[in-house]
Amino acid sequence: MSRPILEVKDLRVHYYVEAGAVKAVDGVSFSLDEGTKLGLVGESGSGKSTMALALMRMVQPPARIVGGKILLDGYDLATANEEEMRRIRLSQISMIPQGAMNALHPLLRVERQIMDGIVDHESGLSKAKLKERVYELLESVELNRRVSRMYPHQLSGGMKQRVAAAASIALHPKLVIADEPTSALDVVIQRQVMETISRLQSEMNLSIILIGHDMGLMAQFVDRLAVMYAGKLMELGDIRAMFAEPLHPYTLMLIRSLPRLENKGEFSDIPGITPSLLNPPSGCVFHTRCPYATGSVGERCRTVVPDFCEIRPGRWIACHLDGEIPS
Ligand SMILES: Nc1ncnc2c1ncn2[C@@H]1O[C@H](COP(=O)(O)OP(=O)(O)O)[C@@H](O)[C@H]1O
Ligand SMILES: [Mg+2]
Repeated sequence: MSRPILEVKDLRVHYYVEAGAVKAVDGVSFSLDEGTKLGLVGESGSGKSTMALALMRMVQPPARIVGGKILLDGYDLATANEEEMRRIRLSQISMIPQGAMNALHPLLRVERQIMDGIVDHESGLSKAKLKERVYELLESVELNRRVSRMYPHQLSGGMKQRVAAAASIALHPKLVIADEPTSALDVVIQRQVMETISRLQSEMNLSIILIGHDMGLMAQFVDRLAVMYAGKLMELGDIRAMFAEPLHPYTLMLIRSLPRLENKGEFSDIPGITPSLLNPPSGCVFHTRCPYATGSVGERCRTVVPDFCEIRPGRWIACHLDGEIPS
C-alpha cells in the first residue's frame, strides 16, 4: 500500500526585493508516496532550489514562505515553530544541498561534520559510539573509515558528495532532498554516486526528491517526474509514461531538446527566454514560448491561469490544451 509521505499544497515562496516580489515558487502542489523517488526538473531559475529550501523551512530573507502547506507525514512544516523544525530537520527530512561539495566546513574533519548533526538530536552518546556510527555511515556510502579523520580539501568531489550523503542519512530521515547532487562531477563519478544514493534509497526505503536538469539521469533513477517552469509545476507523472507521451507542450519540448540520453546542460535548445518572476506573464506562464498558444485556445492561454489538474490517473498538467497537443 502506498501512502503519501509528503503533500505539498499551493506552496508559495517570494523573494522580496526592491522592485517587488519575485514569485520563485508560485502555487505548487504535489504529493510523494513513501519509498518513492521523484525527480524535479526545470531550467535554471525556475525555482527548484527555492522549493527545496522551503520544504526544509530553510528559506532565508529576502525570501519568505507566503502561503501553502507542507505536510510531512501529515504534519504541517509550513507552520511548525523553529524549535520543532530543529527536531524535524535531519531526523525526518534532510537535504543534500546544491553545491554540497562546497558546503562542508573546510576546517573540520569529516567525523566532526557528521557527528555534529547526530549530537544535536541525540545527547548522551559516548564518543566511542559516535565514532562507530560515523564509520557505519561512511561504509554505507562506500567510503573507508579512514576518511573520518580527513579534511574536505583531502577529498575528491565524489568523496565530498558521499560525505554529504552520509550526513544526510545519519538519523534515518523519511525524506531526503538531493539538489543537483552530482551536477559538478564528471559523468562516470556522477553515475557511481547516484548508484550509491539509489542503493541507500531502496535499503532504507527512503523517499527522495532528486533535483536536476539531466533528463537521462532522471530516466535512470526516478519513478516520477515533476517539470517546473517559472515557479509553477507544468506536468507531473510517471516518468516512463511522460517520456512515452508528454502531455504538456513544455515537457514535449524538453524531451525533444535532448540530443541524446546522456544530455546534460541547460535545455538550451528551447527557443525564447525564461520569464521574469517579478512580473510573470499573464495567463499561462509558458504562453510566451508555447508554439501551441495560438488560434482559438490562444486567448485563454494569454489570459487565464490553467489549473494543475489530474488529467489521467497519476498524470497532472497545467495546460488549456488538456493533453491534446496538436501534431
Ligand atoms: N536572494 C535572492 N533574491 C532575489 N531573487 C532570488 C534570490 N535567490 C533566488 N532568486 C530568484 O528566485 C528564482 C528561483 O531561483 P532558484 O530557486 O535558485 O532556481 P533553480 O534552483 O531552479 O535554478 C530565480 O528567478 C532567482 O533569480
Ligand atoms: Mg538550483
